[in-house]
Amino acid sequence: MTTAVANQPVSVRPNEAPIGAEITGVDLCGDLDDDSFRKIRDAYYRYSLLIIRGQAISPEQQIRFTRRFGDLQLHHLKQYVLPEHPEVLMLSNIVENGRTIGLADAGRVAVWHTDLSYLKEPVAGSTLYALEIPYSDTGEVLGDTVFTSTFAAYDALSPELKSKLAGLRAIHRMTKGGYESDKEKSASRLQYSDEQKKNFADIAHPIIRTHPVTGRKCIYINPLCTDGIEGMPDSESLPLLEELYAHCTRPEFTYRHKWRKGDLLMWDNCSALHLAVMDYALPQRRLMHRITLKGAVPF
Ligand code: OGA
Ligand code: MN
Repeated sequence: MTTAVANQPVSVRPNEAPIGAEITGVDLCGDLDDDSFRKIRDAYYRYSLLIIRGQAISPEQQIRFTRRFGDLQLHHLKQYVLPEHPEVLMLSNIVENGRTIGLADAGRVAVWHTDLSYLKEPVAGSTLYALEIPYSDTGEVLGDTVFTSTFAAYDALSPELKSKLAGLRAIHRMTKGGYESDKEKSASRLQYSDEQKKNFADIAHPIIRTHPVTGRKCIYINPLCTDGIEGMPDSESLPLLEELYAHCTRPEFTYRHKWRKGDLLMWDNCSALHLAVMDYALPQRRLMHRITLKGAVPF
């Protein structure tokens, strides 16, 4: 079986932005041959984000592709995973039987973030496959996702800030920023029981992280979850973190993805942050399938 689309070699076209590359010439319905896969994997580690358009894949096929990169991490929100495929988390604003069928607004992710950084072993990568994309009345695509390269952000730090940050560890907290504080919108927000919260204790990860595969350095902070720096008073750490959030999301480090149905994106949660643009609402429907890869303790 082959992967390549007939008469078309797999090709990698980097974005102009310092993050992301479009992969063409693959049909993920088939099995990827080793050469094609190697090319795709190299692009993933180099550009932190893959854009593979025009796919028509089943959950099994998305699982098979993601699985080539490593072991999968099942999501703890069991109410939003596909019953037959617990590897697949649904992201959706579609309401059935009085509740959204998936994480609505991707679980309050209309904030720059990296996925599941509050785990001791944060997830390595995420694949996200678009099944339904919202459109405006005038036919414009809504619900873009923006990505930023924290490799590029690290490279652009001043030498003084690089040495100041070396060895510092930020505190990541699942419930920072009030998962349940926004009462008005809470119906579509994540609700955690006290029991669940207990299972996710605060965790410290290095702010300057070394990529486990390439050895490249990046900035590892998460505006959604980082809430302080070990051994530093809030009066000092919070402004420093704010400065880093602003630095990491400078427009020149970012790429904004306009989705089409059939797009499969894959990003590296070590060297990229992402942001969901929440500019749509029912009856504009959005449905995505997400799979995450197990990660290791950051260093
Ligand atoms: C995610 C996520 C953003 C989006 O899947 O982790 O943040 O635009 N998605 O759906
Ligand atoms: Mn996310």
